[in-house]
Amino acid sequence: MSDVTPLLALNWKMNKTPSEARAWATELAGTFTGQGAELAVMAPAIDLPGVAEALRGSRVAYGAQDVSAHASGAYTGEISAAMLLDVGASYAIVGHSERRAYHAETDEKVAAKTRAALQAGLVPIVCVGEELPVREAGEHVAFTLNSLRGSLEGVDVRDARALVIAYEPVWAIGTGKTATADDAEEMASAIRGELRRSLGDVADRVRVLYGGSVKPANIAEICGKANVNGALVGGASLELDSVLGMAGAL
Ligand code: G3P
Repeated sequence: MSDVTPLLALNWKMNKTPSEARAWATELAGTFTGQGAELAVMAPAIDLPGVAEALRGSRVAYGAQDVSAHASGAYTGEISAAMLLDVGASYAIVGHSERRAYHAETDEKVAAKTRAALQAGLVPIVCVGEELPVREAGEHVAFTLNSLRGSLEGVDVRDARALVIAYEPVWAIGTGKTATADDAEEMASAIRGELRRSLGDVADRVRVLYGGSVKPANIAEICGKANVNGALVGGASLELDSVLGMAGAL
């Protein structure tokens, strides 16, 4: 996997107003030198135009935390892939566990969003991961692969090269409990195997990220594993110093 550029995706969740986001992104653009990893700011949608302006000409990409499964029309409150592309976004997170838990997003809905993003030319970061009881029952791999299959249902293999998958065990999100690097690799390798079965050789180009309490102190060990191609970071993505520390460690 050494020829795949690692991705450090910053999931701000519902943090930073548009003016805070613009100021933060301006500072980031002035300090990030772009060595090693690709960096992407996954901002609240309302922040994106300001983030876009601040990052123009820099080596930092940006994207949204969700995208509609529909191209346009009577879907109050939704934001389409075309709208995101129009402000220069490259990525959208789909199927984050918080969307699955608080907005009843099923694998089927996630798959519709994944297809809509890919068809429009937006890279989806498709999130999968188990809750604690599933891991304690030793069923985490089977559960996560099943969710992955459902979340990629109907994806055209010709579009799949652009895919990013994020393994985020729900019990490690915002809890300070990080999966070990070996846990992350066990799942990333299982995900890669599943992608090979469903998509063929293109699976080797798909970046598989780990997310869940990633910070400067643990990112190098986790992302040093053979099948882990970067991280999706929540809490530690809000402070510039910690982002620069993580980027430097990749
Ligand atoms: O999408 C990132 C995420 O859910 C992990 O959050 O705060 O544990 O890094 P955090």
